[in-house]
Amino acid sequence: MTKVYNFSAGPAVLPAPVIKQVQAELPSYHGSGMSILEMSHRSSLYEELAAAAEANLRDLMKIPDDYDVLFLQGGGTLQFTMAPLNLARHYHRIGVVDSGHWAVRAKEEAELLPKMTAEVVATNQEQNYAALPSAYHLSGDYDYIHLTLNNTIEGTMYRQLPQLDGQVLVGDMSSNILAQRYRVADFGMIYAGAQKNIGPAGLTVVIVRHDLLDEKQKLPAMLDYVKQAKKKSALNTPPVFAIYVAGLVFQWVQDQGGVDAMQQRNEEKAQLLYDFLDNSKLFHPTAKASDRSTTNVPFVTGDAQLDQQFIQAATAAGLLNLKGHRSVGGMRASLYNAMPEAGVEALVNFMKQFELEH
Ligand SMILES: Cc1ncc(COP(=O)(O)O)c(C=O)c1O
Repeated sequence: MTKVYNFSAGPAVLPAPVIKQVQAELPSYHGSGMSILEMSHRSSLYEELAAAAEANLRDLMKIPDDYDVLFLQGGGTLQFTMAPLNLARHYHRIGVVDSGHWAVRAKEEAELLPKMTAEVVATNQEQNYAALPSAYHLSGDYDYIHLTLNNTIEGTMYRQLPQLDGQVLVGDMSSNILAQRYRVADFGMIYAGAQKNIGPAGLTVVIVRHDLLDEKQKLPAMLDYVKQAKKKSALNTPPVFAIYVAGLVFQWVQDQGGVDAMQQRNEEKAQLLYDFLDNSKLFHPTAKASDRSTTNVPFVTGDAQLDQQFIQAATAAGLLNLKGHRSVGGMRASLYNAMPEAGVEALVNFMKQFELEH
């Protein structure tokens, strides 16, 4: 098979050594004679792997002890509901930093809850979200402020957190968890769907400060962080395979030198592509330079037909999934942790050639 590079925004490329290990271990996990796909979540083998995955994640992100780490299902999207349900208990009011499509979705879902208000405290919609919002308007009491750390579709990312008067922050890190260093203690809660930097879809990581939770609150069990934490995320059958692969990816990130090393590599990879885009006469990056993401790089030629032609030619050359999100069009290259530098070099070389020919 010819070499391909997968620039998908998610589910996304996984580290090649992880895929190899999964393949090798699939028929019999750790000499058990059973595949991990067949393994009970009550077995000691599973309990060990889940505990090791959590310990590795805690170490990688330097998660303080007073935070619970949960391995849940329902994607990033279910957290748009679970976060307000569990955390917006006092004022039933949250603030949302409207930095793009996923922030809007977080607001919409929160507002569907009875008696819940979700208020935009900053927006950059009028600039089509090409930059992060710059003005924040907080008024009165909020249970928390929701912030999307990396806007997967629009290609903007927070390098520094906005100053929000000591408000509790809930951070959606779906597309840059483990790719960029953040201080967990700056957040009341963090969540991320796994299918970009962590592993297979079907797993969502939640990191929540324990004192924000209320043991007495009565919520449906699956939606309750307290009950999930008490049962070590095995209240019902957890996504065993996805947690297993996530554990392997956490170990791979450790082997690469951890989150700081990943961030450094991601900055170098993104720089390679942005340097080309900034000097190209054909291709243009769409996000403002100071705010642009290291993990998702949207760009256009300005001619929708030519964009289409480029995507087709790139696909034929083994550079896959470069089509931009359906809501914005153009192209998008996602450069998650597992995308090797060689993939970005191959993309830039291909773009140079395409530019010459067009
Ligand atoms: C930043 C962000 N938040 C939330 C989501 C929704 O995630 P899921 O599909 O896991 O529900 C995505 C999906 O791409 C995302 O990029």
